[in-house]
Amino acid sequence: MTLRAFVLRGGGASVALDRLHVSTDVLGVVEGDDMVTVWLAGALPAIDFGEVVIEELSPEVANATATGLEHDVPILVASDLLVRPPWVDRPASFVGFELVVPRGMAFGSGEHDSTQAALLALHAAWCDPATFADVGTGSGILASYAWLRGCRRVEACDIEEPAVLAARELLPAAKVVLGGPEALPFRADFVIANLTGAEQHAALPAILELWTGCAPLVLSGMRAHEVDAVAARLPLPAIARARGAFTALTVLPRS
Ligand SMILES: C[S@@+](CC[C@H](N)C(=O)[O-])C[C@H]1O[C@@H](n2cnc3c(N)ncnc32)[C@H](O)[C@@H]1O
Repeated sequence: MTLRAFVLRGGGASVALDRLHVSTDVLGVVEGDDMVTVWLAGALPAIDFGEVVIEELSPEVANATATGLEHDVPILVASDLLVRPPWVDRPASFVGFELVVPRGMAFGSGEHDSTQAALLALHAAWCDPATFADVGTGSGILASYAWLRGCRRVEACDIEEPAVLAARELLPAAKVVLGGPEALPFRADFVIANLTGAEQHAALPAILELWTGCAPLVLSGMRAHEVDAVAARLPLPAIARARGAFTALTVLPRS
């Protein structure tokens, strides 16, 4: 069906919408300040619209189906590590680890260099830890990597509620809590945190407290000028890996 869309502008827009509802089948509505856009199967009915200015949108705009998701592509983080949203197909030729993460309300769908730096460090340092903690989990992408690789005691935290909800949805088996690293329920062997430099400094005492030291610690999300100051606060020397403008530091366990 080809729809027609009309914008009703003015102080009487919501009254006009009420009148439209009783006189015709309104198939769609978007309400703004003193403005209503309605979608109908045909012409506007001949009713009294009051004090509104009416403009019809072009058929192309009225029937647009773009969702903003059409241009999403798989993100090849390493030759054997891919991130894609569920609505994008896995490339037929890809062999390796695949993280399927929707692009939603939380940070971490694989596009950002700080996420990629964290994933690359995680991928390089992976050692089948018994426990894994993701501080500042966002969408849950890094925790999801640990689960994909077989870790079955995964915990994650974020100070933003939408992130906690997104991570719980992505990884129902993980323990995801609202708050900082101090809110996590158990100490973890492998700990990762992709945070800004300032956030790393603020959270570092609790992150080090959380980390058992039995597997690597990865801190990502720092810009080049922030790296040395964070590295200087770590108990052991760290390996630095950059991706675009962001660096991940990896501290390996003593033995
Ligand atoms: C850069 S995003 C990283 C998201 C995801 N882990 C990734 O790598 O793409 C940082 C996240 O950390 C959260 N955050 C910032 N400071 C935090 C803290 N002290 N404790 C827990 N989460 C924090 C933010 O709300 C945000 O969701």
